[in-house]
Amino acid sequence: MTTLDDLLALDWTSHTVEIAPGVQTRPGQPLLRDEARTRAVMRELRRHAMHDGRGDGLRALDLGCLEGGFTVELARAGFDALGVEGRASNHAKCAALARHLALPGLRFELCDVKALAEATHGRFDAVLCLGLLYHLDDPMAFVEHLARELTTPRAVMFLDTHVAPPDDAAMAGFGGRAALSPLVTLTHRGHDYAGRWYHEYDGAQAPDEAWTSVSNARSFWPTEPALIAALLRGGWDRVYPIYGTFEIGEEFALRRQYSRAWYVAVKGD
Ligand SMILES: C[S@@+](CC[C@H](N)C(=O)[O-])C[C@H]1O[C@@H](n2cnc3c(N)ncnc32)[C@H](O)[C@@H]1O
Repeated sequence: MTTLDDLLALDWTSHTVEIAPGVQTRPGQPLLRDEARTRAVMRELRRHAMHDGRGDGLRALDLGCLEGGFTVELARAGFDALGVEGRASNHAKCAALARHLALPGLRFELCDVKALAEATHGRFDAVLCLGLLYHLDDPMAFVEHLARELTTPRAVMFLDTHVAPPDDAAMAGFGGRAALSPLVTLTHRGHDYAGRWYHEYDGAQAPDEAWTSVSNARSFWPTEPALIAALLRGGWDRVYPIYGTFEIGEEFALRRQYSRAWYVAVKGD
């Protein structure tokens, strides 16, 4: 049994979830379900996966789910929702949330996303890949694995990720440039992908820092063209960048400053 007090005593770093009428994990913060990113995610899922605005009968996967807020929203919308989190301290919060909310269709698993397999996890109709791809060392192989092994023939994925600044001018405008390497090229299945290595942590052991990678000390950020090519060659049939969430001048400025963008990838016609 997880009481409201037990939940409120946990160290919530990011996801503000309503856990009882008027009670939320991070008091005084805007609810995650009202954030621009959440509204964009749900809008794209309604367009590409849900029926009559509901996810009933569909399976959804939330990769690197942190404190479980997006997985909760998926379950509340009717999906059979699995949140996968590779860091035990984050997963403990997700598990407490699931025990307390007791929503049908809400499940969390402590697991490195690299270990997801069709044999053990089945296939999913919708995938959230939010703030996760840029924490992996082989994103080209990962998006291919998602398309070919872990998703149904008409699946949709919402992707929120950093891309590598493609040149010196773009590097100069990017706040996190100190952790990035010069441009390099990785080869995957005979194709070259330009990008930069991102330094995650020193040594062999990942630190218990809520938001970082769990099993690689450096991550590979493809450039935007390399990312789109990897998605399409990997088995996603179309990729759409998403603009229009913020005022467009501000949106362009945010993209430059954070070198970060949102995409929808879909399979099938
Ligand atoms: C930047 S946070 C993003 C959290 C959440 N998806 C969001 O957008 O609000 C990255 C999350 O991915 C988790 N993570 C990083 N690498 C992972 C891996 N290989 N397997 C599973 N989880 C991972 C981290 O522990 C953290 O919770």
